[in-house]
Amino acid sequence: MATGRAELDARLALFPSSRYMGSKHQVLPFLYQHLAPLEFRSVTDAFSGSGAVSYLLKGMGKAVTANDFMHFSYQTARAIIDNAGTVLTPEEVEELLRPNRRAGDFIQQTFRDLYFTDEENALLDTISHNIRTRLRNSYKRSIAYAALARACLRKRPRGLFTYTGVRYLDGRRDLQLTLADQFREAVNVLNRAVYDNGQENNALNMDAFELPTGTDLVYLDPPYVSGLSDNDYIRRYHFVEGLVRYWEDVEIQEHTSTKKFARYPSLFDSKTTVRHAFSTIFDHFRDSIITVSYSSNGIPSRDEMVSLLQQYKENVVVHEIDHLYSFGTHAHMVGENQNRVQEYLFIGS
Ligand SMILES: C[S@@+](CC[C@H](N)C(=O)[O-])C[C@H]1O[C@@H](n2cnc3c(N)ncnc32)[C@H](O)[C@@H]1O
Repeated sequence: MATGRAELDARLALFPSSRYMGSKHQVLPFLYQHLAPLEFRSVTDAFSGSGAVSYLLKGMGKAVTANDFMHFSYQTARAIIDNAGTVLTPEEVEELLRPNRRAGDFIQQTFRDLYFTDEENALLDTISHNIRTRLRNSYKRSIAYAALARACLRKRPRGLFTYTGVRYLDGRRDLQLTLADQFREAVNVLNRAVYDNGQENNALNMDAFELPTGTDLVYLDPPYVSGLSDNDYIRRYHFVEGLVRYWEDVEIQEHTSTKKFARYPSLFDSKTTVRHAFSTIFDHFRDSIITVSYSSNGIPSRDEMVSLLQQYKENVVVHEIDHLYSFGTHAHMVGENQNRVQEYLFIGS
């Protein structure tokens, strides 16, 4: 199903944008410009993050498989990529907010005085319990989890869980809205983003190296390794990641002030393994058109990436655009104007 540009723009305006580290939301027009001429019907977005690129691809009428090993990214992808029509009704939302004596106090006890008030922590215990016990439909559950994570992120100055206490309180509306209202608003935003593009779409929660192959194209946007900034998604988002999986099978590091847990190991984490990571994943997807987003301050360099890709693909082209990274990725550079980098799209066919 082909989609017109105006229709696509209207659709993309409904994407629940966020400050997710490394989100490609700002460069979707650049990606569209270079992906649209390629011939493909099915696509795997192996590192879907905020879901922005999967949402673009869904808008382009493709059959999309969105994957991320973070549970809260996965719940967002289930809610707005995989899901073709299920929404959470206002009555269901109020039901989720209703106090429940069985909710327990895990969040109140574990995270007291760290990120939210006692009252807000009690509400999080309630909503989390109600989602697990009252919502039978798994798409409704995904919308609720994605909305809960979104509400918590918006209620945190700078959308981060790397520090404790309420610093940077700047009077923004997002910080003033109650957590319950943030949750209601987040459900509305997610509900509005749900639609059917006439294709079978899918959300997965796997290590990218284990993904099924066979889609016509794969889009790779792994974390960037750079000497300048860290790419630890768990350090930034552990609270919402823990929340959507109810801290099951993760070990909270009690000695840390933030009560975070260990990052999920990824070959894309370090300078010593990242080249191997790229060749392994190129090899894995060698039968698909391979597209890669990367930036000029990342390792490997542009030239190295081209030669790595040429080992698996005959034709390799690189497109580039200037991009100013949102802070979070390069927080320490804000003000120095050095977070302006070249954003690359490598295409191997
Ligand atoms: C640069 S972000 C992707 C941003 C995304 N394209 C967007 O527009 O929001 C990288 C993502 O890769 C995920 N990730 C890192 N290593 C992974 C792995 N081995 N398997 C699956 N996902 C991984 C992270 O959780 C993170 O969401």
